[in-house]
Amino acid sequence: MWRRRLFEAGASAYDWLTWQERWRDHCRSMVDHLHLQTERPRILDLGVGPGISALGLLDRLPEATVVGVDLATRMMATARKRIEGRVSLVQADASHLPFADASFDAVTGHSFLYLLPDRSSVVREISRVLRPAGHCAFLEPNARPPRGVWRRIRGPLRFRISMVLWRVASSGAGRFEPATLQALLDEALLAQPPATTLHGLGLIGTARKPLPRIDETGDRLRADSTAETDFKNDEARKHQRRELPLTGQPTRLESS
Ligand SMILES: C[S@@+](CC[C@H](N)C(=O)[O-])C[C@H]1O[C@@H](n2cnc3c(N)ncnc32)[C@H](O)[C@@H]1O
Repeated sequence: MWRRRLFEAGASAYDWLTWQERWRDHCRSMVDHLHLQTERPRILDLGVGPGISALGLLDRLPEATVVGVDLATRMMATARKRIEGRVSLVQADASHLPFADASFDAVTGHSFLYLLPDRSSVVREISRVLRPAGHCAFLEPNARPPRGVWRRIRGPLRFRISMVLWRVASSGAGRFEPATLQALLDEALLAQPPATTLHGLGLIGTARKPLPRIDETGDRLRADSTAETDFKNDEARKHQRRELPLTGQPTRLESS
């Protein structure tokens, strides 16, 4: 409850702080982790806030349909002013999403999962609304950034202030270690080891919804373990070829 009040009261301040190019750039980076198979995906951005995360996705995928969900009325009002017409906005609790099963190709969230009191129920909802083989990506604060990280954070003063506040605000809410973020997503999906971003201040957790297995009678069985193994092997090969950032190593954004 206090979290909801915080985002109601702080909507304008949060909007001012995050409505900037560098923040938007990090929102765009989530697209790199979605393994999309279409140029017109349906993407659900959870905890859309003032809307910059959804706009970042659209920058990279102008043909996508992006739906932004947020619980806070004032955040929704700010988002409507900012992005109405470009993004469909729905006020809802992410633990009870008003969408049909398998209705999205991808799900994203920037600074979202760490705020949730019941993360597991939201991950189950993400799994429900994702189509089989759909991916999700979440950029979250890292509990253990490397030493000297602040010397490496560059950019305009406003961006550096936003990073300091992100760090301070996330201290009370429960930041992630790579293993805890992966384990959370693994509860209902097939998660990969998170990548680091923002010089290690942030983690990008990614996961995929498994394909259903069909038996000889045509009935769905549990997720196909062969498909899961294929997926994990495929991801491991991509890491080896450096198509995806390796855990603990700089991502594409580090040079920006
Ligand atoms: C830190 S903001 C992130 C906003 C935006 N994604 C960005 O990158 O700037 C997190 C948002 O998640 C929303 N939120 C928190 N719990 C939620 C829930 N259970 N369901 C939907 N939204 C929620 C908050 O209202 C807030 O707007």
